Amino acid sequence: MDIGIDKIGVYVPKNYIDIVELAKARDVDPNKFTIGIGQDKQAVPQPYEDVVTMAANSADSILTTEDKKALGLLIVGTESSIDESKSSAAFLMDLLDLPEDIRSFEIKQACYGATAGLQTAVDFVSQNPDKKALVIASDIARYGIKTPGEVTQGAGSVAMIVSQNPRVLKLTRKSVYMTRNVGDFWRPTFSKTAFARGKFSNEVYVDFFNTLWKKYQDKYSATIDDFSTLLFHIPYTKMGTKALRTLEGKISDVKYAKLTEHYQASIKFSREVGNLYTGSLYLGLLSYLINAAQANEELLLFSYGSGAVGELYSGEIQAGFDKVIDQSGILEMLDNRQKMSIADYEKMYQVEYQDGTIVDPQAVNSKFYLSEIKENERLYKKLK
Ligand code: CAA
Repeated sequence: MDIGIDKIGVYVPKNYIDIVELAKARDVDPNKFTIGIGQDKQAVPQPYEDVVTMAANSADSILTTEDKKALGLLIVGTESSIDESKSSAAFLMDLLDLPEDIRSFEIKQACYGATAGLQTAVDFVSQNPDKKALVIASDIARYGIKTPGEVTQGAGSVAMIVSQNPRVLKLTRKSVYMTRNVGDFWRPTFSKTAFARGKFSNEVYVDFFNTLWKKYQDKYSATIDDFSTLLFHIPYTKMGTKALRTLEGKISDVKYAKLTEHYQASIKFSREVGNLYTGSLYLGLLSYLINAAQANEELLLFSYGSGAVGELYSGEIQAGFDKVIDQSGILEMLDNRQKMSIADYEKMYQVEYQDGTIVDPQAVNSKFYLSEIKENERLYKKLK
């Protein structure tokens, strides 16, 4: 049975900051941020947005009534959870009008969470062929004002429906993975911002990619010529380049040039949005699908979550994939965002709603939003 991604949608907040303006405000040469790090814009969420509202927005962009009826599993991968106990998936039940006979939960393993969700969904569908699974990656990447990681922030959500006879990406069920206890990036429960050993995290990322690629070749007698495109987890767009570069000189120049060209198509959206943590690999997939992909291409996808878990797996783009993706809606969403000044972004960064907050719906610019915090419980609404 063929199983994989049948639909894919994305949500990004409506505000962004310009990376050149950020560089100037931080007294840094803009080329460091635009070339050295590889970013142009960074999505900035409003205080009434969090992983629940962004997840609801991305899922809402792809779910039909028919899909909802067929759902048996809902998984949210996130590392910016809003509750230590209740999963963000449970909040989505009424926001999205989902039926009750669904198994739902949240997965945490840094940026790897959505891939864990996707593979779990594939197993679920193989056991329940008539059912579908909804996998959502939703995150706000925060390192703090004036930190080295600030330029690699971002926010957004990617939602995917997994089913049999997928129309977008068939997963070939070839996959290798690894886990190692590494202190490259962490966020203790008391902290809203992440801590990172930045340079070390880059090294671990590249080492995981090389280790898994060797493992994949050995396990499946594969060569680079089996794939037309490599997609990477993209915490910032230079990161995937660093991993890709390790292949230079080991594969033909023509192949390396092709992979580099395809990688450039996969990072277009990330340059505009920044790090989505769990969603970054899947934003890269969407960017590639919209900007360059051809039917029947074989892809190799590298998922990495600090701490650390990595997985390298393959997929095959399905004929007609372009008709399933809301290309114009996604491009419009990216184009119609509003720039925020660095001063306003810094001010908003400090805002944190306390118990008793009631949000004025007139001031909201998102279909789903945090409406109130009552008795320390976060309550959500959908704009009429
Ligand atoms: N023009 C062009 N390039 C310039 C430049 C200039 N004027 N000045 C500097 N650069 C280049 C540097 O040469 C460097 O390039 P290379 O990496 O190719 O050597 C690049 O800009 C960055 O410069 P620095 O290394 O000096 O930057 P930094 O010390 O400020 O930190 C960072 C960069 C480590 C990525 C930091 O932003 C960070 O800690 N980010 C968060 C951690 C992270 O994203 N890690 C990724 C792996 S972990 C992961 O993937 C999980 C996840 O999502 C977080």
